[in-house]
Amino acid sequence: MTKAAAPPPPRIVIFGASGDLARRKILPALARLGGDLEVIGAGRSEHSADSFREMVAQTSGSRELARRSRWVSLDYGSIDSYRALGQIVDGAGATVVYYLATPPATFASILDGIKRAGLSRRGDHHRIVVEKPLGHDAESARRLNRQLEQSFSDRQVFRIDHYLAKDTVQNVLALRFSNSLFEPIWNRTMIDTIQITAAEEEGIGTRAGYYDHVGAVRDMLQNHVLQLLALVAMEPPTTFDPVDVRLCKEELLRAVQPLDPTLAVRGQYADYLKAEGVAPDSRRETYAAARVVIENWRWEGVPIFLRTGKCLRRRLTEAVVRFKEAPHLRVGGRRQRGIPTLLVIRFQPDEGILVRIGAKRPGGGFEIVPAGMKLEYRRLGWQELPDAYENVLNEVLSGGHAVFPSAREIERSWEIVDPLLTAWEADGHPEIYPAGSWGPRAADDLVASQGGGRWISSGDEPGTE
Ligand code: BG6
Repeated sequence: MTKAAAPPPPRIVIFGASGDLARRKILPALARLGGDLEVIGAGRSEHSADSFREMVAQTSGSRELARRSRWVSLDYGSIDSYRALGQIVDGAGATVVYYLATPPATFASILDGIKRAGLSRRGDHHRIVVEKPLGHDAESARRLNRQLEQSFSDRQVFRIDHYLAKDTVQNVLALRFSNSLFEPIWNRTMIDTIQITAAEEEGIGTRAGYYDHVGAVRDMLQNHVLQLLALVAMEPPTTFDPVDVRLCKEELLRAVQPLDPTLAVRGQYADYLKAEGVAPDSRRETYAAARVVIENWRWEGVPIFLRTGKCLRRRLTEAVVRFKEAPHLRVGGRRQRGIPTLLVIRFQPDEGILVRIGAKRPGGGFEIVPAGMKLEYRRLGWQELPDAYENVLNEVLSGGHAVFPSAREIERSWEIVDPLLTAWEADGHPEIYPAGSWGPRAADDLVASQGGGRWISSGDEPGTE
């Protein structure tokens, strides 16, 4: 019997392969994945075969990946460029992934070129990956989705939100739905407030060209933060298959009311305007916070808050769920200070889950003090958690859709943030906040006035170190 021929190695075409995203995230993740994958860098830069290989080796740390890489110069608007690319990538049923790691403004012409050269309709093993931000408002997101749908079937399209590929983000489903402890109390009856924070310590670095056009809402809130909210607040899915999980997230996002600009705060870190490439009078927000209203049975009346920003006190992404205080705690005729139970889902760093409870201080008397119970995620077996981009690329290559938001989720997320974008673009200025702080004071007032008490940052709160 003749031996079946080994399948040809998968090929990944990276548009914008000499850009920031490819260098920082995609190429290092591909190197870690290993295997016999071939990389085809495609872009407008002038690279020779050798200079591109050298760049791959430098940025990915893998000579092996560099050896399996090649460069194709491309004029994004020219059909001949795509035809030439088609001849290079075609190979007896090989999986071919087109990864758009280019600025969003180029998406339309690249998609058009791929379509016109007939590269998209070759079956499910030809796939397309697009990176956020997908559009810059609801209308442009719908346009982009329509364009993708004209060329590719749903199974061929992978829309990246790398937060969904973080292990700790996926763990939200395990926490909520594989433990009978939490789900019965996960609602308006027992939960006082939910706060989701995605704080970064770093500023915009050298990314002004991108960031000054985008800002915190488009860069983080519309995608990563709303996806975290969807997972924390959605209903239990029928199965954990991607289709069912997506449907539940979509349903939740439909219940999230478009954000009210009077219940939102924008900030800009001091010295943002001094960063190279930022417009001298830029009003772009580097911080955004908002009260969220979810109109459904489970969350009616629960104040929920989101915040994200750059140059904040420390890098911290977490969801804090504060439960209602115990109703009665009287000792010796005195009311004891209440210590509300907190459940902290710490996405990064120090990934884990923490429950802050009240406990009796050891010794005489009956004083209640905060105390923590902690799960350190790393102790579950991973010394080093796999990088989100590694997970994303693995899924794309194997054709799985578990960690990708659907077109409808993305469009709805834009509908949720659009009122902020419109109001903030029309007028007003962001509040300037000192680098290294927790952001604008107005955000504290927002939480206080909306029944959230104050912002809770684990580590700053007793019992959550
Ligand atoms: C990206 C944003 O999507 O996420 C960046 O464009 C941000 O501005 C980054 O810094 C944060 O990702 P992570 O995985 O480092 O938290």
